[in-house]
Amino acid sequence: MTAQNPRKILVTSALPYANGSIHMGHMLEYIQTDIWVRFQKARGNECYYVCADDAHGTAIMLRAEKEGISPEEQIARVKAEHETDFADFQVAFDNFHSTHSEENRHFSSEIYKACRDKGHINVRKIKQLYDPVKELFLADRYIKGECPKCGAADQYGDNCEVCGATYTPAELKNPFSTISGATPVEKESEHYFFKLPDFQQFLKEWTRSGTLQDEVANKLQEWLDSGLQEWDISRDAPYFGFEIPDAPGKYFYVWLDAPIGYMASFKNLCDQRGDIDFDEFWKKDSTAELYHFIGKDIINFHALFWPSMLSAAEYRTPTAVNAHGFVTVNGAKMSKSRGTFIKARTYLNHLNPTYLRYYFAAKLGSSVDDFDLNLEDFVMRVNADLVNKLVNIASRTGNFIAKASGELSANCVEQAMVQEFIDAGDLIAEHYEKREFSRAMKDIMALADRANEYIQEKAPWAMNKEEGRQQEVQEVCSVAINLFRQLVTYLSPVLPEIAEKTKEFLNLESLDWEARRNILLSHKINKFKPMLARAEMDKVTAILEETKAELEKETGKPADGKKDEKPAAKKDEKKAKNKGPELREDGNEVIAETIEFPDFAKVDLRIARIVKADHVEGADKLLQLTLDIGNGETRNVFSGIKSAYNPQDLEGKLTVMVANLAPRKMKFGMSEGMVLAAGPGGEDIFLLEPHDGAQPGMRVM
Ligand code: 2FM
Ligand code: ZN
Repeated sequence: MTAQNPRKILVTSALPYANGSIHMGHMLEYIQTDIWVRFQKARGNECYYVCADDAHGTAIMLRAEKEGISPEEQIARVKAEHETDFADFQVAFDNFHSTHSEENRHFSSEIYKACRDKGHINVRKIKQLYDPVKELFLADRYIKGECPKCGAADQYGDNCEVCGATYTPAELKNPFSTISGATPVEKESEHYFFKLPDFQQFLKEWTRSGTLQDEVANKLQEWLDSGLQEWDISRDAPYFGFEIPDAPGKYFYVWLDAPIGYMASFKNLCDQRGDIDFDEFWKKDSTAELYHFIGKDIINFHALFWPSMLSAAEYRTPTAVNAHGFVTVNGAKMSKSRGTFIKARTYLNHLNPTYLRYYFAAKLGSSVDDFDLNLEDFVMRVNADLVNKLVNIASRTGNFIAKASGELSANCVEQAMVQEFIDAGDLIAEHYEKREFSRAMKDIMALADRANEYIQEKAPWAMNKEEGRQQEVQEVCSVAINLFRQLVTYLSPVLPEIAEKTKEFLNLESLDWEARRNILLSHKINKFKPMLARAEMDKVTAILEETKAELEKETGKPADGKKDEKPAAKKDEKKAKNKGPELREDGNEVIAETIEFPDFAKVDLRIARIVKADHVEGADKLLQLTLDIGNGETRNVFSGIKSAYNPQDLEGKLTVMVANLAPRKMKFGMSEGMVLAAGPGGEDIFLLEPHDGAQPGMRVM
């Protein structure tokens, strides 16, 4: 699609909570979205990118109280911080608003009333734990106590960090409110429910209409098959949010008005600009496109509740919801004590945002796989690709032009090669469109390699020393500069700063996709100025140190990089958005220390045949395996290999299992052993498969 036939596209990223700083987990999403939006704009489409702070809820109210300020003041402070962080990472929203806004109040009431008037709201009394001192109802995360199974102290109200048991807060022994320390009491109150089951049929169709990635659609299928529940959309006062129409003292739950914040931010943009028609993007039969970029942890809100609410209120539904995975750092969950829980600002204090934008693009595809920010690889990759390959093309050739006439040659001596670079833009555009950024980067870097080979082969620096070859030098360098211009065109969604510097260097008005088609001939350019310094590992180390120092300041304790985190801190990380991968559902940890041979000999490793493999309802990572281990014995094992295997492909395969692992009770049933697999995770998990000839029951020696 080109400028002659522009698409109308509205894009959002998830709204960050107004009670905390932006960190690397967030940045993956904002950078991913920003790249996609910049790409759409470069293609000549009419594209808008809106976001806002997610300003409501108990957490924000309590945070303000702790700081001794009003919630309004709290959210204003955080908004200013968020906006600066985003701007400094070159994330270019068309509008950044707040869910605590008049537009959002308007749309939230309107959508709610439409749902209510169509009979999709239920009101009934429920019992909840209540803090009698603080006089508020307690969400699960504000209740702690002793684990009802193993007795471990200081456990949260949903699962035990020590034994892995899951339970309800009411089952905790000696529970207490983490806000006041008081013992919670049960209290009844009236709640408002959105009748999600009314939308079962609608959702069955909507989730299968190309709106979701396959793995997400499959997950939703499981939820749909197991039956939908009504959704509690009200919270009792005191609560920072919008009061529900005709329901004094009842407030919209933060997740009700959060996605409506997308509309509100867009409406605010329309009102500021005056030249965009809100209805054209949101009316029921809109032909404009609407995309939400989100983390995989908030799929239910965006792919169940949100489209249902929109359809009930007769608005259009999203064209697609694009989910991404979590960020890990050096292969592990982001951790405050290891210094890898890196805030956006801490990164910016030491490193250029261009590096991170490129590294994310270089490794990001369209799947929901987790993203590993490997810090050594990061430094190597950005230096190799951006400094050594890309910028090098211009730095090795630009000044030969500047020193001569300052003009590129009048003819192109490598017409075919330049044309190939131009033609490559179509496939690169397809990769961007599909959010396959890593493929786009791979293709672009392959072109950069070719450009460098060309320069190396021609060696204009050697030619330049020879009498009478100056014209040839100019011709070769002009080819190189034209190739560089193509490369920067393709990289401009990822590297806006390099794109700006290139426009200045090459005297170009635009680096948009279409503009690339005319080769630059007899074109005046400027003196080359350095565009990007090398990334240095000691800056990365400084980031980790600064992050650890932040933790020390917060807790008053040294961050020693070991397992010094209290369960509370761990839990906060897990709960907060995108701060790391989900905990392994099987609760196993990898322990690496030497063992003596007798210890090893105790491990009963056996050949097993997978006779049955199934998905596990409600489990993100697990498959349930039935293993034949010989002598007519079978075992039931839950294994975290779902991201790499389809169950049906496993049936019949031989593998190796630990047959004498003590059975473990898991959320989904008893697991009687463990199968062996290797690999970094995601699609790359490889189940160990013995050679044919091995038989179930054989001991592995
Ligand atoms: O998970 C979060 O961080 C939420 N604040 C995201 C909200 S996205 C949208 F629905 F508003
Ligand atoms: Zn326990």
